[in-house]
Amino acid sequence: MAKVKKAFFCNNCGYESAKWLGQCPSCGKWNTMVEEVIAKQSGPTSKSVTISTQSAKPIKLSDIEANGNEERIVLAPAETLSANGEANISELDRILGGGMVKGSLVLIGGEPGIGKSTLSLQIPLGCPTLKTLYVSGEESVRQIKMRAERLGGAHESCYILSETSLENILEQAKQIAPQLLIIDSIQTIFSQLIESSAGSVSQVRECAAALLRFAKESNTPVILIGHITKDGTIAGPKVLEHIVDVVLQFEGDTRHSFRILRSIKNRFGASAELAVYEMTGGGLREILNPSEMFISTHNQELSGTAVAAMLDGTRPFLIEVQALVSTAAYGTPQRSATGFDVRRMNMLLAVLEKRVGFKLSVKDVFLNIAGGIKISDPACDLAIVMSILSSNFDVAVNQKIAFAAEIGLSGEVRPVSQIERRISEAEKLGFEKIYISSFNQLQERKYKKIKVVCAANVPQIVREVFQEGS
Ligand code: TYD
Ligand code: MG
Repeated sequence: MAKVKKAFFCNNCGYESAKWLGQCPSCGKWNTMVEEVIAKQSGPTSKSVTISTQSAKPIKLSDIEANGNEERIVLAPAETLSANGEANISELDRILGGGMVKGSLVLIGGEPGIGKSTLSLQIPLGCPTLKTLYVSGEESVRQIKMRAERLGGAHESCYILSETSLENILEQAKQIAPQLLIIDSIQTIFSQLIESSAGSVSQVRECAAALLRFAKESNTPVILIGHITKDGTIAGPKVLEHIVDVVLQFEGDTRHSFRILRSIKNRFGASAELAVYEMTGGGLREILNPSEMFISTHNQELSGTAVAAMLDGTRPFLIEVQALVSTAAYGTPQRSATGFDVRRMNMLLAVLEKRVGFKLSVKDVFLNIAGGIKISDPACDLAIVMSILSSNFDVAVNQKIAFAAEIGLSGEVRPVSQIERRISEAEKLGFEKIYISSFNQLQERKYKKIKVVCAANVPQIVREVFQEGS
């Protein structure tokens, strides 16, 4: 009997080791090494992956012909836009850098239940001219049909295959010759050449390598869906990040309806792009102007709210911060923040107490970010401080004012990156005034509709904002 070869793999990053280790030396995670059987037959292993079947020869860079741009498939062409009213995949085109590059491998990662299958099924449904093969290893053909009906229809150029064997999938893909292949999910697919079970590091890596070969040889774009689990029982998409051309991450709170699709890596366009979706009864709906969604009170003057001009990736949007400050009923005041780091909020409260002279240590402070999204951009500091003070004074901040600055430990107002994009976004949404740091080097540019106020410290802004407000 052939000797079975075994090795240990890290479930998080795919690091391979001959013996078991408590901590992965590559990614530093504890207890992620699992034993796996690796090929005992002479099959392709991940180390011998060749993209092309012909043996390649070196060519001079200057001799290589490239016609400017990569060939791309636009998922939401203008014709379908007018036919469907609104196509819900045009944002995907933008994130990918203007359509899907032929022969590229795209990974969409996310937690279970976030909407990866829904998004990937919306692609063929929104683009009837594209011949697509949608392979599901998780759902039956009938289940997919039911889902497609909820999403608004089915058409003839979308083929469905419920299969988990890689060899069969590749066989069918060669016969059907689709223009787009979708694999839902890579962790359910297995290759017969590998001994270990589906979802293990070696299976996931091997299947992705085979699909990469298929993509490059047939010039077909392939979308892989990858689950991320917190407990790390199945190999995560991190194992694949270096193999694929594009990594998109789908995130959000499953209790809220907002979802964010973020590009983490993109060989054919800008990374750190972002799109916002809303999960509705009829599938995912694009939110083309996220700022409008996250600002709720437009007509009422309420104390305790302020608007921050934040930036996520390269996309600016305005978001409403709400605070509630009340006298602590019990000895120790409560501090709680939803969607924001509570330690940073405590730091801002300490700055207000020590540097600006507000006695907040006897008050309960609650902070909430609208829409259930999480923010980590330091440019929101100023808006957070303003919402807290507004609630404390019970005086509303004028609704036409936005804020974009970081606050330092000595109460100074610090500059933030890409300030011009933030100001333009606020201007576009009809804000009349924005407070920024006087250290922000603003290039000579006149904003016609918005007044840019540069300030050096918090007390100065507090005086101006609340004198106006009262
Ligand atoms: P799904 O795409 O199956 O998630 P994933 O593939 O990432 O595991 O979608 C999961 C959730 O989306 C599910 O809880 C139900 C919800 N959903 C809707 O709210 N509306 C819809 O039209 C669809 C298809 C799903
Ligand atoms: Mg799914």
